[in-house]
Amino acid sequence: MTRPRRQPVRRRTAVLRRETVLATVPLAVAALIGAAGPTAADTTGAPGAGDRYFPLSGNGGYHVRHYDLTLGYDTSSRHLDGTAVLTAAATQNLSRFDLDLKGLKVTGVSVDGAPAAFRRVGQELVVTSHHTLRKGRDFRVTVAYNGTPKPVTDPDGSTDGWIPTDDGAFVAGEPQGAMTWFPANNHPKDKASYDITLTVPEGRTAVANGVLLGQRTAHGRTTFRWRETQPMASYLATATVGKFKVEQYTTHDGLKVYNAVDPREAGAAAPVLKQLPSVLAWESKLFGPYPFRSAGSIVDHAPDAGYALETQTRPLYDSAPDLSTLVHENAHQWFGDSVSLTSWKDIWLNEGFASYAEWLYAEQHGGDSAQTTFAAYYARPASDHLWAFPPGDPGSGQNIFDTPVYVRGAMTLHELRKAVGDRDFFRILRAWAADHRGDHGTTAQFVRLAERMSGKRLDGLFHTWLYAKGKPDRA
Ligand code: TRP
Ligand code: ZN
Repeated sequence: MTRPRRQPVRRRTAVLRRETVLATVPLAVAALIGAAGPTAADTTGAPGAGDRYFPLSGNGGYHVRHYDLTLGYDTSSRHLDGTAVLTAAATQNLSRFDLDLKGLKVTGVSVDGAPAAFRRVGQELVVTSHHTLRKGRDFRVTVAYNGTPKPVTDPDGSTDGWIPTDDGAFVAGEPQGAMTWFPANNHPKDKASYDITLTVPEGRTAVANGVLLGQRTAHGRTTFRWRETQPMASYLATATVGKFKVEQYTTHDGLKVYNAVDPREAGAAAPVLKQLPSVLAWESKLFGPYPFRSAGSIVDHAPDAGYALETQTRPLYDSAPDLSTLVHENAHQWFGDSVSLTSWKDIWLNEGFASYAEWLYAEQHGGDSAQTTFAAYYARPASDHLWAFPPGDPGSGQNIFDTPVYVRGAMTLHELRKAVGDRDFFRILRAWAADHRGDHGTTAQFVRLAERMSGKRLDGLFHTWLYAKGKPDRA
C-alpha cells in the first residue's frame, strides 16, 4: 500500500498553475499545427505526433530507427557538447521536418551529409533539407549542439530531463525531458535503438541504457560507450552522471546486471539491490520472459528530482529505493518500456500495471493480499483525491502521475482479476507482454485481449473503473 516518492510533492502547488497552462499552451500549439497542416502534396512534417496531452511532443513525417549520441559533459561548468546522428525513415515526402529540442545552441545540421537550413521555434528544431526526402527511404540527420541543459517543467509542476546534481546529472525524460539533452522525435509512439557515448571527467561515471561496450580513460577524461539495441522510447533514455560505485555481474538466467550507486545511498541501497535478480525472476514468472538483455539500477542522490524512473534496462532512482519501488520500476520494463504507450492518456497501462505488480509482490511475499490493499483504498470516502478523475483518460498532462492513475489503475486490474479468475488474469498479463513486446499497446487493445482470453464481456467493468467519474459503486 505504499505510494513512495514517485509522486510529485509539488502537485498541490501545481494545481494553481492549471489556468495558465490550459489557457496558453493550446493556443500556441494550434497556431503551430495550423501552420503546418498537411495536405497530400505537402512535404512538411507535422510539428507534433498528435498527442492531446502533449501536442508538440514528437513530430510527423518520419520514424527514427536509431540514435547515435556522442556527448561530453563537464560536471563543473555543467556544459554539454553533443553530436546526434539520427537514422530515420521518411513516412511521407519531406522537404522540411521537425525535431524536438529545448534550450541548447545548435551549431550545425546536415541531412545525408549535406548542410541543411534550420531554425528554432520553441521546442521545435525545424530542418529544411537541401533535397526532398522520399517517402519510404532512410535518411540521416546530424545535429551538432552544445550549451547548459536545463530540465523542463511539466504541467504538474515537476521537472524532468537533464537535472544537474552536485556531482553530475540525473537524467530522466518522462514525459518530455529527452529534448533537453538530445534532438528527438520525442513521443513514445516512435521507438528506436540507441548508441550513447558519453565523456565525463575522470572519476565520474556515465550510465546509460543497455550494455556497456567499453570504457576508456585518457587525459583526465573517461568515455563510456553504451548500446541499447531493443526499441526504446526517448523518455526512457538516460545518461546519468555522478560519482558512483559500480557493480557488475551476470545472473543465473544470463542477464547482464550493471548497478551504479551514489556512495551516499550505498548503505540503504545494498539490501534492496541484492534482491534484483530474485525480483526479476519473480516478475518473469508472472509476466513472461524479461524483455531485454541487460538490467540493473542507477541509484543517484538527486533530491531535486523527487521521483524514480523506469529508464529502459536500468531504472533510475533519486535515492535508495525501497523494495516496493524496485519492484515497480522493474515491472515497467514489461509494462511501459517493452510495451509502450501510443498516447499519454493511456498512462494507466504503465502506472496501473507497475503499481499492481507491487500489490502482487506483497501478496506473494508474506505481505497484505492484493484484496486487502484494494479494500483499504476502496474504503476511502467519495471525496478523497483518489476518485478525483478516472484513470483511463486523466484529462491532461497535469494528471498523468497522480494517485488515481496509479491506484485506481491498479484497482482496475484487481477488478479484472476478480472477474476472470487468477488463471485467466495471469494469462492475459503474459499475453499482453508477449503480443506487444518491443512495440506498443492501447487500452482498447488490452480490453479486447482480456475479453478474448476470458470469453467474458468486460466493457462494463472497464468503463466503470477506467472512465466513469467518481467513486465506483460496487467493489
Ligand atoms: N514513471 C515514474 C514511475 O512511477 C514516475 C515519474 C516519471 C514521475 N516522471 C515523473 C512522477 C514526473 C512525477 C513527475 O515510476
Ligand atoms: Zn511508475
